[in-house]
Amino acid sequence: MIKDLYPPNYVNDIRNILGYQIYRITKLKSLSVDKPFIEHISKDKGFDVKQNFLSDEKLQTLYEIFKRRIDLNLSESRIVLLPDDKDYNEVIDIFRVQSIENILLRKPAIEFERINIEEGDVYDHNRRWHTDRCVDCYKMFFFLNDHSKENGTYEYSQGSSQMSLLRYFYEYYVSLRYSLSQLLRGRLETYSIFLSKFMAEIVHKKIVMEYPKNTLIISNNKGFHRRGRLSPNTVREQVNFDFYYN
Ligand SMILES: [Fe+2]
Repeated sequence: MIKDLYPPNYVNDIRNILGYQIYRITKLKSLSVDKPFIEHISKDKGFDVKQNFLSDEKLQTLYEIFKRRIDLNLSESRIVLLPDDKDYNEVIDIFRVQSIENILLRKPAIEFERINIEEGDVYDHNRRWHTDRCVDCYKMFFFLNDHSKENGTYEYSQGSSQMSLLRYFYEYYVSLRYSLSQLLRGRLETYSIFLSKFMAEIVHKKIVMEYPKNTLIISNNKGFHRRGRLSPNTVREQVNFDFYYN
């Protein structure tokens, strides 16, 4: 659902519509510039791809840690490591190479993810085109197995992290519509004909990130993105680095 774009409990009634617009305009104006990432990511595209990122030895060590932690909790598809976790520093050390050293200084949360769908994909909001924030915000994904369309690899709309008049309008429109939807207790669909036309443009520029294991993706999630759909009996394994927090 698109409501995940917005702070929880912020737009619960009509009084907050105005307040929320002020919040968003302030955010848009602040345009937080994140220097360590800017060096690594194409402003035009909104993402960067680094293949063959780790040595075979480091990749193997990483996979052993991943497997141990994920296999311990088979009911969970995601395990989050925080800086006080015993495996956290080891994983950071594995990724500590010259080119991204300054990124890791920010102590990201590390998430191990294994998605394995036997029956068929289920709905979740990450499958819909969305943005995480209306300001620059970055994530890294590292592929532990080969990612393709079949196992629902990451998709990104190239160039969509750039501000445009349409994007301002989108932000305004969606926040207003969401506020009204909250007011009507979800009886107003947040997507609409306008959004579907806007989304057609977004989809038109999509890049499907089909890469083999040992690929690192750096992504500005101010741009539009989604995860793909998993075919039955496929598995997707990855490490996510989360640099921004709510
Ligand atoms: Fe997202």
